[in-house]
Formats: sequence, structure tokens, C-alpha cells
Amino acid sequence: MTLGRNDLLGLEGMSAEEINLILDTADSFKEISERPVKKVPALRGKTVVNLFFEPSTRTRTSFELAEKRLSADTVNISASTSSVKKGETLRDTAENIQAMKIDLIVMRHSAAGAPHFLAGLLDAAVVNAGDGCHEHPTQGLLDIFTLREKLGDLRGKRIVIVGDVAHSRVARSDVFGLTTLGAEVVLCAPPTMIPRDIERFGVQVETNLKRAIEGADAINVLRIQLERQKVNLFPSSLEYNEVYGITAESLAWATPECLIMHPGPMNRGVEISQEVADSDRAVILDQVTNGVAVRMAVLYLICGVGQKEGLIEEEVQSAPEENREAV
Ligand code: CP
Repeated sequence: MTLGRNDLLGLEGMSAEEINLILDTADSFKEISERPVKKVPALRGKTVVNLFFEPSTRTRTSFELAEKRLSADTVNISASTSSVKKGETLRDTAENIQAMKIDLIVMRHSAAGAPHFLAGLLDAAVVNAGDGCHEHPTQGLLDIFTLREKLGDLRGKRIVIVGDVAHSRVARSDVFGLTTLGAEVVLCAPPTMIPRDIERFGVQVETNLKRAIEGADAINVLRIQLERQKVNLFPSSLEYNEVYGITAESLAWATPECLIMHPGPMNRGVEISQEVADSDRAVILDQVTNGVAVRMAVLYLICGVGQKEGLIEEEVQSAPEENREAV
């Protein structure tokens, strides 16, 4: 089984087989990050450029670590230090980077569709690291990987996504991936934060938090994205917290086993309380750990080196000398 695509732009339209291939490959890669020397030669000789036009802590660092753990050469470019500041177009920036003979661009941009534009323009592969309010496919994959790790088969599992769905690229990628794998997906938010006709993607909409989280296997709490809201979508952060905040009080409606997820960065005290964010049922840092393995899998498969049957076992086992005893 191979990943039948040269770019990863979104989870919309991705088959269950493709998603499971990435998750199974990530399973094999996860152990590499536990080794004393966290490196395998899988992407030796490949050059990856991380092109970030929006701030990021988790995604950029996670991609860079994934690239380094696979032995790729990596370069980081941010909008604030690039010639974009001098008025250069995205097209010129990308074509100049490609002229330096790179293999893959990981891109975050505030405009939905920007990575799709580059993918149509360049021979280099493009991986979407978040485009506006559209998709964030590797976040969706790491969320699904974490859920699969904790809950097993996701068919029939009730996954509730609470918060600013309208502005959330994470919600969109989660919806596409989770529904493809047969999960029951419930979106919960004030009506002003739910896109019209979202039910056509096979999800339920519930504006009452109690009804949404009763019987949930996991709650993915979304950040309130004040920077993307052009008008006030709720009266105040305090009121949002009282009605939709995931707190010890509201969690009493869920089962004790219900997992708590958050893609980060968190607004503690707004969409999630301090107590819940730091509780035993929160798997928020597991998501971050799993993100490195998932991105290693994506890079490996997109670069085409995973397409030879059995190659991954060879790559994972071909650890540097220092690791041999530890493996
Ligand atoms: N989850 C996520 O995309 O976080 P960053 O904005 O820190 O990359």
C-alpha cells in the first residue's frame, strides 16, 4: 500500500486506507523518539523547507524535529525575516526556494488555499501545516492517532468538538478524518460559531454542552480564535466560559473515562479550566508527543521512500551505532 499523492493538503477526500497507512507508519516511528540517539537515515539527502507565514510553537518545532530525526536537511523561513517583508509575492518566494533544489515545503499561511496554490506551481512536494480557517491535516492526523492509541477502533466512538468551529482548521481536518474512520462526530458551540450546513459532512450539531458531552468518549476543546473573529461571536470570555467552558463542573456530565484533548495553544480559563487542562484525563501533551511521529510518517511517505514494501522496518532498524544496544 502506498500513499497515492505527492502532497498533503488536507484530509478531505483522503481514504480510510491512506489515513491508516499514515497512522500505522507513525506507530513504527514513535519508538525512535524514545531512543538515546533519536535519528534514523530514512530521509538522508532530502532537503525540507519549513515556510511559516503565521506564528507557531507546536507545528513548526514538531516538523523540524521530525525532519531531523529522519536525517533530512532542514531550513526554516518565517515571513518576518523573509523578502515577503519587502513586497515579494508568495509565488516568487516559492519559486526561488525551489530553484535551490529542495524536495519538500512545509507551509503555514493565513490564506486558505495557499498550500494548494504552491502545490500546483512547484515540482517540490507541499505539506499543509495550516491554511487559514481551512485545514490542518497533520493536527487532524495526530488527534486521530492519539484517539486510536487510547480508544482503539474509532468506529462508533462519540468524539465531541467544542468551541470555535467556524474559525478552526483543526475542526475541519478532524471532521474529515474521523468521519472517514466511522466515528460519531458532534460539534458543539454557540450558533454563531457553527458554519451553516456543516451537517452535510456527516456530523451532528448540538448547541447544548450537557447534551453534547453526555456519553462522549473524548472531547476536543478548541481555542477561541479572537484574532480571526471580525465581529464579536459571544458577549464575553467570562460568559463563554460559563456556558461552553470545559471545567470540573461541566465535565460532571461526561463519563469519568472521557478523554480531554486540545490542539493548543490553550486559553486557560476561557475554553478550558486550569484544573481540567492539567488533569489525568487530559491527553494534550500526548497529542504533542504523537505529533512528531505522525509528521515523521507523513514526510517519509510523501518523499516516496516508504513506497517499497518492507522498507520501513529496514529504516527503523538501521539505527546509528550508539543506539544498537538500546534498540
Ligand atoms: N496546534 C497548533 O497548530 O499549534 P501551533 O499554532 O503552536 O503550531
